[in-house]
Amino acid sequence: MQNFINQLSTVLETKYILTQDEDKAPYLTDWRKRFTGKALAVLLPGNAAEVANIVKLCAASQVAIVPQGGHTGFCGGATPDNSGKQVILNLKRMNQIREIDSANQTITLEAGCILQAVQEKAAVQGFLFPLSLGAEGSCMIGGNLATNAGGTNVLRYGNARDLCLGLEVVTAKGEIWNGVKGLRKDNTGYDLRDLFIGSEGTLGIITAAVMKLYPLPISQWTTLVACETIAFSIALLNLFQKRATSLLTGFEMMTQESLELNEKHFPQMTNPLQGKPPFTVLIELSDHESEDHVRQLLETILEEAFESGLIIDAVIASNLSQANAFWHMREHITLAQAEEGANLKHDITIPLSSLDCFIKETDALMRTKFPGVRIINFGHLGDGNLHYNIAPPLGTDPKIFNEINEKPIHELVYAQVERCNGSISAEHGVGQLKLDGLRAHKGEVAHELMKTLKRALDPQNILNPHKVVSI
Ligand code: FAD
Ligand code: MLT
Ligand code: ZN
Repeated sequence: MQNFINQLSTVLETKYILTQDEDKAPYLTDWRKRFTGKALAVLLPGNAAEVANIVKLCAASQVAIVPQGGHTGFCGGATPDNSGKQVILNLKRMNQIREIDSANQTITLEAGCILQAVQEKAAVQGFLFPLSLGAEGSCMIGGNLATNAGGTNVLRYGNARDLCLGLEVVTAKGEIWNGVKGLRKDNTGYDLRDLFIGSEGTLGIITAAVMKLYPLPISQWTTLVACETIAFSIALLNLFQKRATSLLTGFEMMTQESLELNEKHFPQMTNPLQGKPPFTVLIELSDHESEDHVRQLLETILEEAFESGLIIDAVIASNLSQANAFWHMREHITLAQAEEGANLKHDITIPLSSLDCFIKETDALMRTKFPGVRIINFGHLGDGNLHYNIAPPLGTDPKIFNEINEKPIHELVYAQVERCNGSISAEHGVGQLKLDGLRAHKGEVAHELMKTLKRALDPQNILNPHKVVSI
């Protein structure tokens, strides 16, 4: 392997080839500290040509490559295995914004750009880059596209796939595919861009992208409302969809149990709503017209919701800092869970028409079969996307509880998801965590087609092997 490392130094400056344990360590464990691997080296290329040359060398020596962005993914996709024979290819040095095209309303950028930096850069030019998620201070555009990330603005603007118009990708052969075109229509055969988006580094390495921009809204109103049942929360969503149409930009749900965990670890984050409602919903309206227009619309819809009994309490944020506090409360649930210790995540989508039934039935089954568990259920209700996470009963050792119960708990939830015609991965992807789950729930024909694609695009199986599908 020393020979391979020597060869690498012909295509990449040695200071960007990390082989010492202390240098590699920060790249080996994922954000949740759930997966740790070993790596022959961590490589930090600075441009697509360097990525291509690295891939060619790896292909010649049969060395597997694990592409990596901010390493915030929840499914262990960017963590190497334990063999110590894989290389990590981290894109962080490729962080240039190539162009903001105002007339075309697009931004062209490299894969290693941090999401928050992109939002800020767009805002300075009067544009909104709508992709937004709790990890935005560290996740990268390449990782967002490779996982087809969702977040809190999907309801109005779509997920990473919907925001992407073109890609630059290094293939498993080390060729550079230049699909960096900001076109909203292009029917020239198969959609290669869509193939690479959401492929989690298993089909190609994304090095750059063209993404859509939108005009920056001038007014935003955020409110927290209390609902007694999930059915009322869904009816409320439908009411907002009907009355506010495209002005509705956020609709997030948090159960009381989720917020209790939040308050336990972040006592400053108390729910301003009265009497600990079973379901707290965060709603955001955005507009390009005057502040008054949106505020009036919001008040009218809330009045209607009160009158029809859909909500029992509401607080409208009176200023930006209060609106931010509402959003922080929502976003801190993930952090509270991390503080609490190991938990079992389920990132699922259910058709909204079946969601009420799913929650009632699954809660009841879960509490009967696993007494004392805490159901930390929250998420992007507007997209039918629940983070139906399970924390062990108070007083139990999370590690021991999860060792015994992880498999049956996943099976219970996924059987319910299947019954409701949902998906076992809404926005976090598959990685290594859900490899078996995908095999079991994708359906045989779809799973075989995925393997056919993987074999065709990466016949040597060097791009992120044993993630998403095993061939
Ligand atoms: P990484 O974790 O580094 O990689 C993820 C996958 O993409 C891996 O399989 C990796 O091999 C592959 N990959 C990375 N870069 C490339 C590339 N350039 N080319 C090819 N493959 C590549 N996710 C959501 O969807 N919605 C949320 O609301 C959300 N909230 C979160 C909140 C917190 C606090 C945290 C920690 C995470 C959250 N996530 C969320 C998950 C995570 O942030 C996203 O999956 C994000 O898109 C991952 O980006 P990354 O750069 O960290 O990718
Ligand atoms: C979020 O929406 O906050 C994350 O995707 C959820 C999670 O931690 O499961
Ligand atoms: Zn989420």
